[in-house]
Amino acid sequence: MSRPPAAAVSESLLAFWAEAGVDAALLETTVDRIAEGQRPLAPRFAPATAPSHAPATVRSAPRPLAIETAREIARTCSDLEALATAIEAFEGCPIRFEGAASRAVFSRGPADAPVVVIGEAPGAEEDRAGRPFVGKAGRMLDRMLEAIGLTDRVFITNTVFWRPPGNRTPTPEEQLVCKPFVEQAIRLVRPRMLLLVGAPATRCLLDQTEGINRLHGRWFEWRTADGDLEIPALPTFHPAFLMRTPSAKAMAWADLKTFAERLNRPARP
Ligand code: URA
Repeated sequence: MSRPPAAAVSESLLAFWAEAGVDAALLETTVDRIAEGQRPLAPRFAPATAPSHAPATVRSAPRPLAIETAREIARTCSDLEALATAIEAFEGCPIRFEGAASRAVFSRGPADAPVVVIGEAPGAEEDRAGRPFVGKAGRMLDRMLEAIGLTDRVFITNTVFWRPPGNRTPTPEEQLVCKPFVEQAIRLVRPRMLLLVGAPATRCLLDQTEGINRLHGRWFEWRTADGDLEIPALPTFHPAFLMRTPSAKAMAWADLKTFAERLNRPARP
């Protein structure tokens, strides 16, 4: 019997892996690509072309720190469209080169929303669609928001804009690189309140390291790094966690009621 050509064997193996749920190629050991040497960044406002997926070492010489560059770029974006374009062109977040589709996943929802919701990171469906929270967790989030009358009244984004390989939690360093863009998004939307879903969003936005079990349902003041804006922020459970842990739904519901009660409270004269 003649052996199948190598391409057919590879295709069949890939199909088998895909069916078994393998959807990302990972190295056996963790590589800290931020410490590795400040990956070269795209020129400011470079056109949003598809990024090269060549390893950092074969790309041009090191540039200034990615976080500082992100800050500089984000500060100059005067509307959400410019911010989306800048994120798309930004090459300072290493996750972008670790298997995510080339398109950044930035936001969905109206630019004048009274509430900004911040999640953790895009998953596989978000990576494909280019929009946050469009998969199972997104449908759960939509139901949570509907329950407190916020359907179509929230601006939704994440702490990072590319899907971490294997859906791992983004590292604090990866979140720090993207944070200036998240801050600028909040600055531009100027919501009345922030809803932080899950521990990674709470850690990133509020610098809180305690677990979500201790932090959920408590009010915090979120401040920009410059201190020019302060907004009440409430951490709650991530919808993906609630799907795995239905017993936590009652606590999440209490958090949402707390949130809605303050949002709907008439403003003081
Ligand atoms: N989980 C998140 O935190 N964000 C998404 O966009 C999707 C799932």
